[in-house]
Amino acid sequence: MRRMKVLVARRLPDGVEARMSALFDAALNPGDAPMPRTALIEALADSDVLVPSVANPVDAALLESAGPGLKLVANFGVGVDNIDLDAARTRGIAVTNTPGVLTEDTADIALALMLMAARRLGAGERTLRAGAWRGWGPTDQLGTSLTGKRLGIVGMGRIGQALALRARALGMHIEYHSRHRVEADVEARLEARFEPDMDAMLRQANFVSLHAPYSAATHHLLDRRRLALVGPHAFLINTARGAIVDEEALIERLETGAIAGAGLDVYTNEPHVDPRLLALENVVLLPHLGSATVETRTAMGMKVVENILALQEGRELPDRVA
Ligand code: DGY
Repeated sequence: MRRMKVLVARRLPDGVEARMSALFDAALNPGDAPMPRTALIEALADSDVLVPSVANPVDAALLESAGPGLKLVANFGVGVDNIDLDAARTRGIAVTNTPGVLTEDTADIALALMLMAARRLGAGERTLRAGAWRGWGPTDQLGTSLTGKRLGIVGMGRIGQALALRARALGMHIEYHSRHRVEADVEARLEARFEPDMDAMLRQANFVSLHAPYSAATHHLLDRRRLALVGPHAFLINTARGAIVDEEALIERLETGAIAGAGLDVYTNEPHVDPRLLALENVVLLPHLGSATVETRTAMGMKVVENILALQEGRELPDRVA
C-alpha cells in the first residue's frame, strides 16, 4: 500500500506527530513556523493530503495551485470556514474535520467566560497584580450572579448542549434558538426551552452564548439590529467564530454600556484584536483557547490521522464534510 504524502501546516501534539510519521510519509512543521503561501503552494504540488487548521486559509486559488495529486484536506479543527468547500468539491478534493472531541473543553471555556465576565474576574486579577487591591470592601468590584439568570444559547449542537448542561448545574434557566429543534428527551434532560424567535430570546436573556458554525448564512448573525436587542443587563459570549458578530457594533455597545459586557475567545481578524476591545474593562478576551487542552488537541489530531488512514486504505472517510 502506498503511504500518503501528508503536508502538516502547523506543529501538532507529539503523540499525533509520532503516529503520523509511523503511518504516512509526513512533512511536519516541528518549528511551527508560519508557512508562507508560496512555500505551502510549492509543498502542495507533491502532496496527497493537506492538514491545515483554522489559522490556514485554504481558498480556491490555493486548491487551484495544488497538484492534481491532492486528494484530501484533513482539517485540524471542527470549523471548516477556513476552507473553500465549493472549490474543493469542484476539484474533487475531499474535506474532513474533527467533530465530537472538542465539545466539553469548548463548553468549559464558554462557561469560564460567563463567569469571568459576570463576576469581573479579569478586572479583579488585574487590580491585584497591579498592587492596587485595598482589601475586602462591601461594595468593591461587584459583579452579577449567574444563578437564576436566563441563558440564551444560539445553536444547540454538541457544544451548545454541553454548555446547557453546565449552566443547569448553576441553576440557570436555559432557552435556545437553533436551526433544528433538538429531540424532546434532550430538551427535557437539559430543561431547555426552544425559542423559535431569536429576537425574543435576545431581548430576554441575561447571557447570550454563540455556538453556531460560521458560514455565509451566519455571517453577522448578531448584526447591529440584533445586538441592540441584547439589553444593558446582558453579557454576550462568543467561543464560535468572530465574524458571527458585527464586531464594530459590539464594540460601540460595550463602549457605551448598552450591553453589560462580553466574553470573547474569537475575533473577526484573528490574531488581530481591535485595540478598542483591549481598552475596555467590561470585556474578557481570550486567545481562541476553546479546544486548547492536551487531551483535546491530541484527540483532534488522532481524528485527522483516522481520516487520512481511511483514505490510504481506500475506506470511507469517517468525518467527511465535502
Ligand atoms: C475548531 O475546531 O473549529 C476550533 O475553533 C479550532 O480551530
